[in-house]
Amino acid sequence: MIGGGIAAYKCLDLIRRLDEHGVAVRCVLTAAAKELVSPLAVAALSHGKVFDELFSLTDEAEMGHIRLSREADLVVVAPATADLLAKMANGLADDLASTLLLATDKPVLVAPAMNPRMWAHPATRRNVERLRADGVTILGPAAGDTACGEVGTGRMVEPTELVEAILARLRAGPRPLAGLRALVTSGPTHEPIDPVRFIANRSSGRQGHAIAAALARAGAEVTLVSGPVTIPDPEGVRTVHVETAREMAEACLAALPVDIAVCAAAVADWRPEEVPAHKIKKMPGGPPPTLRLAENPDILATLARHPTARPRLVVGFAAETGDLETEARAKMAKKGCDWILANDVSEGTTVFGGARNRILLITGDGPAEAWPELAKEEVARRLVERIAAMFAGGRS
Ligand code: CTP
Repeated sequence: MIGGGIAAYKCLDLIRRLDEHGVAVRCVLTAAAKELVSPLAVAALSHGKVFDELFSLTDEAEMGHIRLSREADLVVVAPATADLLAKMANGLADDLASTLLLATDKPVLVAPAMNPRMWAHPATRRNVERLRADGVTILGPAAGDTACGEVGTGRMVEPTELVEAILARLRAGPRPLAGLRALVTSGPTHEPIDPVRFIANRSSGRQGHAIAAALARAGAEVTLVSGPVTIPDPEGVRTVHVETAREMAEACLAALPVDIAVCAAAVADWRPEEVPAHKIKKMPGGPPPTLRLAENPDILATLARHPTARPRLVVGFAAETGDLETEARAKMAKKGCDWILANDVSEGTTVFGGARNRILLITGDGPAEAWPELAKEEVARRLVERIAAMFAGGRS
């Protein structure tokens, strides 16, 4: 789908490059795109008819718009204007492109291009967030000069990058977890002390987010419940943002039923029992305040012991500083989960907040599996491989 942005001219290059890779391309132009790029050039490069009218009787007779939207393996929207994103986010269907986008059952990859202020506008932010939650992949935009003369984020990513993303999607291997639902917790929680202070920990969310992304790539329908992190929401995943452990627990219970639950969040075990509505003031010469703590819900144990909607596989993490295997097995029994990924978080290790992780995987009574130190993305990939094997062969 070619939208009506100046970047539409780059689509000619994109079509040519896809053609060189043997990808069959069928193009739909919005009315505005037709003003910017010649349908004849698009037709010549894509070796076929260009579609642009919703109610063209001959096209409807030859190929209904529903069929057109489903025959493709992948739908690419480039450039995606702010207007087209807004239509997609709200399910509007008043021309051929937006109708096809609403009717398709195929993965959708979108390359936005617009003025930087339009991209930064809260309305566009909301629309993009909603599209991500709907499982749409958003590629870019990139930073730099834009056609309107302003510098900022708004340029469509280059055709070479788009081609890579498209080929990766088309080549994406089997989706062994298709049809399964997964829930992942990630990141720290923030437990307020007063309106400006909170208790937190060093978790970055990298491991949990990588697991959510890997589960989605394997075809699962993933809900990620994330505490406050600075990393972006993973592609193709529904991300729910929360602050506190109690909000995280609530969001997890709302996501049930699921087949797979992976608890990677570093949930604060305790929260300040009472949170005053006003900032706690320092009293000159007075004693420091005393914090009374209350225990937070244990999300992993709650899911593993759920009376009616226990996921078929519940996976936890164990951050330990003592004898890793003994403590991890004890934690597994205490919480009732099926598998546990134990890691050593003693002083000197950089698991919390770092990019790599050394895992000991315990899947039952058998021997524990010691993985070498790996990037967190690779840990996620291996875990998902194990999960897929389990679901392929019945319960381990
Ligand atoms: N966990 C959870 N809810 C909590 C605390 C922990 O879901 N309130 C989950 C974590 O996501 C992780 C596992 O439980 O998967 C173990 O977390 P860890 O911090 O190692 O264990 P704790 O229960 O906090 O035990 P302790 O600190 O006593 O070792």
